[in-house]
Amino acid sequence: MKNTSNRTGPDRNTEPAGKLWAGRFQKDTDALVGDFNASLSFDARLYREDIEGSAAHAAMLGARGIIPPEDAEAIIAELGRLLTDIEEGRVTLTPEAEDIHMNIEQLLTARLGDAGRRLHTARSRNDQVALDLRLYLKKQICGLHSLTLSLLDTLATLAEAHTGTVMPGYTHLQRAQPITLAHALTAYAEMFSRDVTRLEDCHRRMDVCPLGAGALAATTYPIDRARVARDLDFADVTRNSLDAVGDRDFCIELCAALSLLMMHLSRLAEEVILWCSWEFGFAELDDAYSTGSSIMPQKKNPDVAELVRGKTGRVYGDLIALLTVMKGLPLAYNKDMQEDKEPVFDAVDTARQCLSVFAPMLSTLTFRPEAMRRAAASGFLNATDCADYLVRRGLPFREAYGIVGRLVRLCLVRGKDLEGLTLEEFRSVSEHFDRDVYDALALDACVAARNVPGGPATPQVRAHIEALRAFCRAHKHFPGAPRGTGGKIP
Ligand code: ARG
Repeated sequence: MKNTSNRTGPDRNTEPAGKLWAGRFQKDTDALVGDFNASLSFDARLYREDIEGSAAHAAMLGARGIIPPEDAEAIIAELGRLLTDIEEGRVTLTPEAEDIHMNIEQLLTARLGDAGRRLHTARSRNDQVALDLRLYLKKQICGLHSLTLSLLDTLATLAEAHTGTVMPGYTHLQRAQPITLAHALTAYAEMFSRDVTRLEDCHRRMDVCPLGAGALAATTYPIDRARVARDLDFADVTRNSLDAVGDRDFCIELCAALSLLMMHLSRLAEEVILWCSWEFGFAELDDAYSTGSSIMPQKKNPDVAELVRGKTGRVYGDLIALLTVMKGLPLAYNKDMQEDKEPVFDAVDTARQCLSVFAPMLSTLTFRPEAMRRAAASGFLNATDCADYLVRRGLPFREAYGIVGRLVRLCLVRGKDLEGLTLEEFRSVSEHFDRDVYDALALDACVAARNVPGGPATPQVRAHIEALRAFCRAHKHFPGAPRGTGGKIP
């Protein structure tokens, strides 16, 4: 599309040529400014939502007699053809038309003439872009929601197989108390269940239709906002036109929810990296989910987990970028807000990619239960249990704790574990020990004794897995999944 200068003659509205707003201007936009201003390179992905939104808007304009009903029909039909043409690569979008919204309007007008020129009645790009972004992100949330649920499901399935797999639990990355692999995996499942509800929550607040807010002060036409909202599957309409076009909380909230989700993925990625190290040897990655080295023939690297950990930083960056873009903006729309798209799209794309690759990487992991048990058997993970034994014999916990501290010192000197001490050695520190101390110190007994809700004992973890399964079932039918037609495209 060519840029026409000197568009000052009387019949300037023979579109398409030049900028839509050329009437007000005596000169063309500088080429550098044109490039600088254009957002097509990153908002072209909104073409479908733009078309759906325009179709719903046109239907409403026609129904209200704001434009001739036959024009509305022609617009809707042509938008349907345009959608197919874009999807089948028959349309060239041009950055000269600045963004996807003006591209579509110009294409429509080139095909329909005056009917196309009537589409933008009672609408501004400000409410249009707010609409398109909400429509697009709502769909993206549905996809992310289902990927997160399936990751949760993968974790529950793995956990089911490992309720008896004893491993060391850590604090400060120092061996602390024995747990099971299932207990560790369901800890992550719990985090992802919060992410699922956060995405739902974010969707709920995003689910209001801004169309009708106009540029900032709504419109003078007798529009039917409720109808448009219904046609586009929104739960409600926005309540203040200034806020409707000036708000990007929904993008920030989504980036915040995805930052937390990425943080959880990153922590689990870190576990996988540690577990797969020679030092831990708790697991081995499937060949399909690891990579080799160009020089060291023996290497099997956890690149997928490392990339997930690394990409977490990008998503945090997206969140901070958006918060910073918005922090100084007066009401209502400001062009700064065009900077919303790249970060929020990047956050969505990154999270989707990471979730997609993570679940199969986990489900193909080979765990080494013997190595985990071996690690849990040394390092005095049963020291707390030893103190608890003395408490059961009537000692105050602090006193028992002191006795076991002395026993551990004795073990360190003699190069033994607690259960390797003779009864005499136990008694040399406290006469409260008896032969049954060895039963209390056995690894499986230590895990089984932690039989309180939320604990690692098998019945508790099984109950947790059941609860996670019920959670998955209850959240499978996401309230945000498209309810109706999702727009009036034939
Ligand atoms: N491309 C613009 C954006 O993404 C569309 C809205 C433009 N509005 C305006 N008043 N210039 O923000």
